[in-house]
Amino acid sequence: MTELLTQAVSLVALGDIMVATADNPPVNALSHSVRAGLSDAISAFEKNDAARAMILVCAGRTFFAGADIREFAKPMREPLLGEVIARLDGCTKPVIAAIHGTALGGGLEVALACSYRVAVASARFGLPEVKLGILPGAGGSLRLPRLIGVEAALAMISEGRQIDAAEAARNGLIDAIVGSDLADGALGFARRIIDAGGDIRRASELPIPSFHSALFETARASMRKRFRGYVAPQKAVDLVETAVTMPFADAGEREYATCKELLGSPQSKALRHLFAAEREALKIEGVPADASLRDIRKVAVVGPGTMGRGIAACLLDAGLSVVLIGLSDESLGKARSGIARIYESALKRGSLSAEEIERRLSRLTLTQSYDGLADVDLAVEAVTEQRDVKAEVFGKLDAALRDDAIIVTNTSFLDIEELASASRRPSNVAGMHFFNPAHVMKLVENVRASRSAPDVLATITALARRLGKTPVMVGRSEGFVANRMLSKRTREAQFLLEEGATPAQIDRVLSGFGFPIGPFALADLAGMDIMAAARAARLPRMSDREKSCNIVDRLVAAGRLGQKTGAGYYRYDEKRTASPDPEADTILDTHRRDRGIVPREISDDEILERCLYAMVNEAAKILEEGAAARPGDIDVIWTSGFGFPSYLGGPMFHADRIGIQTIKAALDRYSALVGREYFQPAPLIERLAAEGKGFYG
Ligand code: 3HC
Repeated sequence: MTELLTQAVSLVALGDIMVATADNPPVNALSHSVRAGLSDAISAFEKNDAARAMILVCAGRTFFAGADIREFAKPMREPLLGEVIARLDGCTKPVIAAIHGTALGGGLEVALACSYRVAVASARFGLPEVKLGILPGAGGSLRLPRLIGVEAALAMISEGRQIDAAEAARNGLIDAIVGSDLADGALGFARRIIDAGGDIRRASELPIPSFHSALFETARASMRKRFRGYVAPQKAVDLVETAVTMPFADAGEREYATCKELLGSPQSKALRHLFAAEREALKIEGVPADASLRDIRKVAVVGPGTMGRGIAACLLDAGLSVVLIGLSDESLGKARSGIARIYESALKRGSLSAEEIERRLSRLTLTQSYDGLADVDLAVEAVTEQRDVKAEVFGKLDAALRDDAIIVTNTSFLDIEELASASRRPSNVAGMHFFNPAHVMKLVENVRASRSAPDVLATITALARRLGKTPVMVGRSEGFVANRMLSKRTREAQFLLEEGATPAQIDRVLSGFGFPIGPFALADLAGMDIMAAARAARLPRMSDREKSCNIVDRLVAAGRLGQKTGAGYYRYDEKRTASPDPEADTILDTHRRDRGIVPREISDDEILERCLYAMVNEAAKILEEGAAARPGDIDVIWTSGFGFPSYLGGPMFHADRIGIQTIKAALDRYSALVGREYFQPAPLIERLAAEGKGFYG
């Protein structure tokens, strides 16, 4: 008879095998009721002389996905996870973890403390704590290296790398892969263990496998480079080193203390905020959580340029069929080779096999015709950013597609409302704003028009997720959210340059803040012709000062297009290493002279504040207009799209940490220095500052 031990854990005896089942939707987080239930199950198992093995399994979609993140901000209630795990480790009869879904963090730590682990073939395993700015705190760093080897464990702990069941079976993390009926497979496994004598095996008692003496130093250097600014990956290396060099109990204490310390750190708070914000961003106003999704199998992409190719590649990667429509054989030929190049580099990296690439390319059709699109479920318009060109494509798609097919535009600044109204299917029109290169960049700003149907919005959100992207729904607004905020940072970087700062100083300040690359190095990488085109598009809406601040145009006129011509803001050697260039200085000096500007010393603080606060001020306007639904959406956009350091939680979270009153005072200061039209505090900032609140209350 099944006995309910707590709200979340039940226990049943099937002959001499007991089965403890945890059921704590949605992801079986190890909340208090689960920990208490597990503890009770262990007691009942140990007390029951007839029971010779116990299986630990989870109901629902996954094995334990880790400690309950929602409990982190509250005082912990006993039994703590470490206590439950110590009891599992101390069991005098075998306990078998039966795993499906994802065994993550504390969930994997529970499994590691069992005698045996079996899993279905689709299961995945990981210690992703580092992504939340913390580290395993319940024995993961101690048991994993003993089971799978020090180097493999170090990679999983310091990078949060997940592995699949096949790899886990190879490296010794699990003992068997069972068939799709997990309960049946686990019972069969338990029976074999009992029949073989019921041995218990404790990972805690295994010897430490040998490892290379330089392993930890090399890992530290690599972490410093790959995770610049992040605290936890560095500490992970120290922790694993401790785990394999100190006695088990001492290392366990150190592990717990490190996890606890990191839990209170600003970085962990910021990363946990983003974890929640990313999930919150998927909740879209007016779209029920269970909205029906339209079936998307075949997609037409109109426009075979850089964006169209990247979008086509990620659709192919997600298993969809793609019709890429272009105007000429030449443009389609270029698109075909562009897509082939994307796959060639995947082949070189070893991330895709030639056969898999062949399979993906077999789902691609290139054509100049809009005929035969009746089986297309969604079309992405990715043609040049000209209203009349886009309107013409919309007209053709309207005529060629089924009535229920969705049309999305990839426009980055045209008015989606206008495009939707001109269509005969406005409820089936929305935006999907990909970023270049579309097959690499995570962020997709999905754009809702006033008449976009809820199921269309739900479908494009699901589609973006299927492409492995981070979608955020935004509303009508010129440049949407990411580019609109970026344009303010770009403006300030240009103003600072003409006022006397150097590209190297501004780049140093912003990359020192945590951006992966400074704005001028980035411009040189993107190409000055691209920057000039973007500037030309915005010119009609620029202030007089912005119009005159035409350093980009001067660089283009001098043939300095960036890395591709060996010179832009910087000079580049054949290895593309940048160095300051006196010729660029001369162009800047001439610009300042022509504008009558006497250069001044500009402090690093001023650079950072002007670049950052101009963005935050714009974000406040975006929030007030409703173009972004929540401050968290803006944090997700900037951390997943434009390299805002995740360990600072995004621009809005970071602004709250600085304090809105401090930001308002700075905006007032820069209003006086640079001009009120650029720095007048947004009404939302005025209000929050007056109320002593932040964006997050
Ligand atoms: N605690 C509490 N809630 C959690 C959770 C956790 N560990 N993991 C996920 N959730 C919640 C999500 O917030 C979301 O809530 P919502 O429906 O209210 O938005 C819901 O569960 C579903 O999550 P997802 O939308 O992410 O569902 P997916 O199916 O896409 O992904 C998953 C499932 C792979 C398990 C993913 O949720 C995930 O990666 N979770 C985090 C895992 C993790 O980081 N574990 C380590 C925790 S720290 C730890 O264990 C410390 C230990 O060492 C002591």
